[in-house]
Amino acid sequence: MRTVHTLTELRTQVAAWRRSGEEVAFAPTMGNLHRGHIRLVERARQCAPRTVASIFVNPMQFGPNEDYAGYPRTLDEDSRQLAEARLDLLFAPDLADIYPRPLEDMTQVIVPGFTTVLCGASRPVHFGGVATVVTKLFNMVQPDIAVFGEKDWQQLMVIRRMTADLNIPIQIVGVPTVREEDGLAMSSRNGYLSAEQRAVAPTLYAMLQTTAERWRQGERDVAILEEDARAQLRAAGFRPDYFEIRHAETLQRPAPEDMAVDLRIFAAAWLGRARLIDNLAVGHLPS
Ligand code: PAJ
Repeated sequence: MRTVHTLTELRTQVAAWRRSGEEVAFAPTMGNLHRGHIRLVERARQCAPRTVASIFVNPMQFGPNEDYAGYPRTLDEDSRQLAEARLDLLFAPDLADIYPRPLEDMTQVIVPGFTTVLCGASRPVHFGGVATVVTKLFNMVQPDIAVFGEKDWQQLMVIRRMTADLNIPIQIVGVPTVREEDGLAMSSRNGYLSAEQRAVAPTLYAMLQTTAERWRQGERDVAILEEDARAQLRAAGFRPDYFEIRHAETLQRPAPEDMAVDLRIFAAAWLGRARLIDNLAVGHLPS
């Protein structure tokens, strides 16, 4: 595996691959890698003969009181894991190469609709920052394919909409959520949990499963399903941010008449100083 820090080195390498007719698959990350990220690299390797990953903790997607400064930065260990996963090229740019001017002076990419619900409601600048940095990384790497995790389902939908709206010629591939044995979705932020909180954390996924099961059993009162789940999360020690059933693709609330469409349950909840998110398909069952 080769590591490059500058755009010139990145472009030279990718251009050489392109000249020899090799396609490129790309996995953007913020580092502090776990098996979820490594699964993205494995998926990328199935998609194209050449693979690129990036590590960049993107300040534009963090709100003023969020964990940008304290976000774990572990480049040496990350590099070891990526090399083991047989990645071809790691792009680890410096802050000034991505944002040469103050953030508020930089052009931004905004995806309307998707970015004001669920995580966007409590993190108003988040998806604008994600869409902007992913656009920049796409233009820098110029991959044929890019892979994103379903753990961040809303992010995946934002990226799909953005690439469609802006005619970005990159195929977006989603990768199912990689979980710990007890069901907890792997996340860099799980490291913020104490041992006691870590023991409680799988309850978030358990509530998604319970809710999906009640739906399959025929419960159709969305408000009751959501409120029961929030109450159980509170009882377990979480501070729920949201627990909502929405259309999987549009992220809109289901109307009573379209209960048979593709629905998904979305949850975000604080446990100590960790904000955990997760989501689960409800299924295509007729109502
Ligand atoms: P980060 O949180 O580092 O995640 C990088 C990629 O790994 C995302 O596509 C995310 O969905 C995926 N991922 C994380 N945990 C996963 C898990 N348990 N299973 C499967 N995939 C998982 O998401 C970001 O960084 C940033 O917003 C980024 C897209 C890099 C833009 O800055």
